[in-house]
Amino acid sequence: MSAPVLEARNLSISFGGVRAVDGVSFIARRNRITTIIGPNGAGKSTLFNLISGALRPHLGSVFVEGIEHTGAPPYRMLAAGVARSFQITNLFFELPVVENLRLAAQVLELQGKALMPIAASGIAHTRVAELLARFGLADKAEFSVAQLSHGEQRRLEVAVALACRPKVLMLDEPTQGMSHGDTGETAALIKSLADEVTVLLIEHDIGLVMSLSDHVIVMHQGRKLAEGTPAAVRANPAVQTAYFGHS
Ligand SMILES: Nc1ncnc2c1ncn2[C@@H]1O[C@H](COP(=O)(O)OP(=O)(O)OP(=O)(O)O)[C@@H](O)[C@H]1O
Ligand SMILES: [Mg+2]
Repeated sequence: MSAPVLEARNLSISFGGVRAVDGVSFIARRNRITTIIGPNGAGKSTLFNLISGALRPHLGSVFVEGIEHTGAPPYRMLAAGVARSFQITNLFFELPVVENLRLAAQVLELQGKALMPIAASGIAHTRVAELLARFGLADKAEFSVAQLSHGEQRRLEVAVALACRPKVLMLDEPTQGMSHGDTGETAALIKSLADEVTVLLIEHDIGLVMSLSDHVIVMHQGRKLAEGTPAAVRANPAVQTAYFGHS
């Protein structure tokens, strides 16, 4: 079994009386795709917020490669190697595709070079070229984000999150609102990313979950209801009742 890269222990947060995430523990292993599923309002995005530093847990802890980072703000989590894309598109719409990627790749440059002109940033430049090719955006490099299709925007968002070579890539419903064709392409892309990064995914499309995931975690009403291989989780009677709506 590959090494734990990310570990959540007993993560909990309440909003008013609602226990949005309630004692959730799990491990994401290196170069595996771990997928979180569950009905609307189950606490999936909130769990992501607790891990990525957008929210501070009331209880519990977060470890990256065995080092505790509980409650660290997002920029520190990014420095620790945890990058995320958002459920709601989070790009600079008026800027060209290539600039969005350059800004994100800039952290790869040595500290002292960070204020030099962008043209002097060789490492970032190489990374941007790599990502443009890999994400099928090379011919759209100079387009503004606003000119891209929805599917292309969502793909760019994944590329932006990946630009700084994170250890863990967190994707919150990356195929949401995509056409069938775009969904298939994006799924293949995510599958291929697992070679270089540990993926933590939130996904509603159960077909995708089954074909993409190495490990599935099921959330229900803030709690972890079950976890295991895609097949084991799907066959679990408690999961069938809570998530698939039948028993
Ligand atoms: N900032 C907040 N303030 C108050 N309540 C919140 C906040 N964020 C989330 N919640 C509540 O926490 C619960 C979990 O929400 P969350 O967005 O994590 O669910 P989700 O599993 O991501 O759902 P979806 O599949 O619809 O994206 C919901 O009851 C939601 O209303
Ligand atoms: Mg959500």
